[in-house]
Amino acid sequence: MRFDVNGAPVEATPFPGQSLRTVLRGLEHYEVKKGCDTGDCGACGVFVDGEPVHSCIYPGHRLEGRAVTTVAGLGTPDHLSPVQQSLVDAAAFQCGYCTSGMVVTASSDAVRDAAPEDRARLFKGNLCRCTGYRSICDALDGVSTTEERGAEGGIGRSVRAPAAERVVSGQEPFTLDFTTTDLLHLSVVRSPHAAARILAIDTAAAEALPGVHAVLTPDDSPAILFSTGRHQNRLEDPDDTLVLDTVVRFRGQRVAAVVADSVGIAEAACRLIRIEWEELPAVFDPELARFPGAPLLHGEKDAFDSRIAAPERNVVAQKHGEMGDVDAALAAADAVVRGTWQTSRVSHAQLETHTTRGWLDSAGRLVLRTSSQVPFLVRDELCRIFELPQDRVRVFTARVGGGFGGKQELLTEDLVTLAVLRTGRPVQWEFSREDEFTATTLRHPQRVSVTLGATADGVLTAMAVDVLSDTGAYGNHGPGVMFHGSHESLSVYRVPNRRVDAEAVYTNNPPSGAFRGYGLGQVMFAVESAMDDLALELGLDPFELRRRNVIVPGDPILVTDPDEESDLQLTGYGLDQCLDLAERAIAGDGEPAPAGWSTGTGMALSMIATMPPRGHFSEVLLRLEPDGTVTVKVGTAEFGNGTSTVHTQLVAEALSLPPERVRLHSSDTDGAKYDSGAFGSAGTVVAGKAVHSAATQLRSLILGAAAGLVGMPISELRLGADGVTAGAEILTLPYLASQVREPLQATGSADGTPRGLAFNVHAFRVAVDEGTGEVRILKSVQAVDAGTVLNPEQLRGQVEGGTAQAIGTALYEEVRTDGAGRITTRWFRDYHVPQLADVPRTDVVFATTHDELGPFGAKSMSEAPYNPVAPALANAIRDALGARPRELPMSRDRIWRLVQKRDA
Ligand code: FES
Ligand code: FES
Repeated sequence: MRFDVNGAPVEATPFPGQSLRTVLRGLEHYEVKKGCDTGDCGACGVFVDGEPVHSCIYPGHRLEGRAVTTVAGLGTPDHLSPVQQSLVDAAAFQCGYCTSGMVVTASSDAVRDAAPEDRARLFKGNLCRCTGYRSICDALDGVSTTEERGAEGGIGRSVRAPAAERVVSGQEPFTLDFTTTDLLHLSVVRSPHAAARILAIDTAAAEALPGVHAVLTPDDSPAILFSTGRHQNRLEDPDDTLVLDTVVRFRGQRVAAVVADSVGIAEAACRLIRIEWEELPAVFDPELARFPGAPLLHGEKDAFDSRIAAPERNVVAQKHGEMGDVDAALAAADAVVRGTWQTSRVSHAQLETHTTRGWLDSAGRLVLRTSSQVPFLVRDELCRIFELPQDRVRVFTARVGGGFGGKQELLTEDLVTLAVLRTGRPVQWEFSREDEFTATTLRHPQRVSVTLGATADGVLTAMAVDVLSDTGAYGNHGPGVMFHGSHESLSVYRVPNRRVDAEAVYTNNPPSGAFRGYGLGQVMFAVESAMDDLALELGLDPFELRRRNVIVPGDPILVTDPDEESDLQLTGYGLDQCLDLAERAIAGDGEPAPAGWSTGTGMALSMIATMPPRGHFSEVLLRLEPDGTVTVKVGTAEFGNGTSTVHTQLVAEALSLPPERVRLHSSDTDGAKYDSGAFGSAGTVVAGKAVHSAATQLRSLILGAAAGLVGMPISELRLGADGVTAGAEILTLPYLASQVREPLQATGSADGTPRGLAFNVHAFRVAVDEGTGEVRILKSVQAVDAGTVLNPEQLRGQVEGGTAQAIGTALYEEVRTDGAGRITTRWFRDYHVPQLADVPRTDVVFATTHDELGPFGAKSMSEAPYNPVAPALANAIRDALGARPRELPMSRDRIWRLVQKRDA
């Protein structure tokens, strides 16, 4: 079959049923992405004869004589198309995985000729999980929000992402965007049972299938327990998982794998594997799972060795603590409110699915290129599981297509390692979108009960919080999410009597895991809803009630267990400003409400520790290169969090260089220095701090070298983009680099402690159609205290993206099960990821603060914006209806039922 791709004639022979997407990727057009393969996300968008299509559902056999144009055919990094340039100008991407498809749709005649009000319809088939779409709309409107390249320094400026031109032209490689010869593919058999034991496996037919190279079963699995959840301190997660286990604890758990010449052969062979099962009793309700007599998921494990708090009750982690006397304070309170709230299971829905390609290099070392937020932690755990020395394993990432915590797991790398070691061949395992919903980790559903007591003038005297977290079949991140959500974050209120009872419980549901906010979103939904009830009870304005009770400088940061050592420090404080800014902004104009709809206003706040608890470590190396550029070797990964931009800004500022003269080498256990990874909002305040430290030292080294050459004191020298100015003489950086015996280089490190605090206040005005339960957001504002704002446009994008994800969680998103552990939402068309039409514009306003713990006074702000959104929206809905929603998502049917119940 002959056709053109980007003007070049090509020949290909699609196999029956093959899609255009895989034909194009087979021709090394890696700019064409996969997000779903069902026509729902738009990541695979291309033009065929000038018409935009989703190439994943366009039959390859229709290509004869046609002209295909991909994003790479529209422009190159050096010669961008006007649409591509507008996306650069407006910073209209974060991870960039959706961008190829966005550029194609935005370049279509239909969009070019459309009125802005038609945009929602035209972009219905293009999902972006990162941006919240405002910046994409700015690009479509030709609005530039970033600075041209070339200026010296970087702090406080909306500097463009280093990879911007490559991302918008499809030239920035993601995990699988490269060619490997002799590649084998892995597919797995997944458990059809929620709880069962394998009695026998017959693999003979699978092994006999031509093209099959290996069949892996529990017999091939190392007998070493580990956790898929990864932390700097591996002891934070329980050791309760095997690479392949003879006991299954959730539907979809992998039980065997086939490695074959193609995905098709591997899947066919999987269907030939015969397994004899003994079904076991299962439990799906976390409340019942704690009862005596409930089936025990990990009852056979040693509690101490596995670090499971109480395997005999299915409790993986627990925290029970009290300061003061809560019961006495409640008895004496003028006002008491109490209630219980329930949150849902949510998918990260990052567009790049989990995937790993592994091989042995020429020295026989294991190499994994993987879609991970934590390459160093993955390497370390693989070495432990497979008993390999660290210098025999290299793990690295390319650009990662979104993660949001979902890639702080070891979900694909272990089985690929087993397959590579078994076959000696390169092996790839790429998750489908269905795998993402059914076999990766999801947000912990939590039941949260809150009781508050206060004086008549609105001073909190007591708070009791009871959390039950469903960690699913395995305990990865179960302790951390429970701790993070129900412990330090509650210190935002200076209530003297506080009790927390929190337990994370095993069930035979799919495993939960890390997700943006890390437990705060669930707990603050309940706490901030209860605060709203208290304001009503006391007849106080909700902003005013918060002002009377929030932590202020000089207050101790009270955690529930007063004997516990805490490294939290309130070194920058802007919560008061955030309350004022949000209150003022929400009072401004918004969309008008449709006639006959009920309207309401609501707000909520949250506080987050700006670094992960109990450890995050980063070490970086900076070097002045012979060409006068500066190389930064940093271990953290870029997955849309913007650290690659911020790190170049930090170096540029310290060395008075344009950011483009800084080159990053990141997230490679061979090529970069150690970093715990991109999680816990650590990219700016831990890795960034290490970068800042090294850059400051390098500045001194450069100036010192210049001073030695010209015989002048450093105080009389000036470092700038042209080099070091010494009187009338300029010593260029390449000249300086050539004059020193040893390269000018410096290392910096940071260990993530002590930790600071960041604040967010969100407010909404909404309209609710009581006849249908539809909620429409009329105005949305978020005030943030991020310390020094390093990059205003990037920070605004993080807040908007977090808000959009939280609106999804609050109103639509729910991974549903059938009550027996079977996921029933398995594709994007069953699961409502917010589209362009769904996300309102959010006014983002910044407090003016400086946190001396962070680089140049910055705090982190990548997870935090998510946390106050759902309670603010719930409070606005309550204000509109006079009835309180207590369950997420606050979907149309639930809101309609709430109205019916109110009127009954
Ligand atoms: S990959 Fe084609 S629409 Fe999602
Ligand atoms: S930038 Fe759109 S999905 Fe990440």
